[in-house]
Amino acid sequence: MRNILGKAGIIDLPRVLDARGNLSFIEELNHIPFRIERCYWIYDVPGGEKRGGHSFYKNEELIIALSGSFDVVLDNGYRREIISLNRSFYGLFVPKLFWREIENFSTNSLAFILSSSKYDPDDYIRDYEIFKNLINK
Ligand code: TYD
Repeated sequence: MRNILGKAGIIDLPRVLDARGNLSFIEELNHIPFRIERCYWIYDVPGGEKRGGHSFYKNEELIIALSGSFDVVLDNGYRREIISLNRSFYGLFVPKLFWREIENFSTNSLAFILSSSKYDPDDYIRDYEIFKNLINK
């Protein structure tokens, strides 16, 4: 993994290059450091919209641009970095307690997210100040 802001980072996925078309894959606990409890995807995003301004208490995730491109604004409570995702053979690992927003979606982009836990509204931190205070405790 190429680390970003500490424990987050870009994970390069296996690529099986083939004249018939390329193939990539992910195995839980092998290519990513968590068990996959859930997958979801974000699509048909109108121009200029943003998604996902929040952090999680426990959930960890891998965000992949399966198609098109978008930017992930990642924030560890001290510093912020913008990571552009635009290929399907790598993903951004976002550990728990990282703030993240997704923006600048290209037309027809597809954000695919692997998550370490099932959907739980109580795991969300949606207030940036609460997130900051938690980090700085
Ligand atoms: P949310 O994670 O808040 O999206 P974003 O942060 O990008 O705005 O999810 C939006 C809605 O979708 C929310 O009302 C709950 C629902 N949802 C599920 O039911 N299951 C899921 O796995 C996810 C990610 C969202």
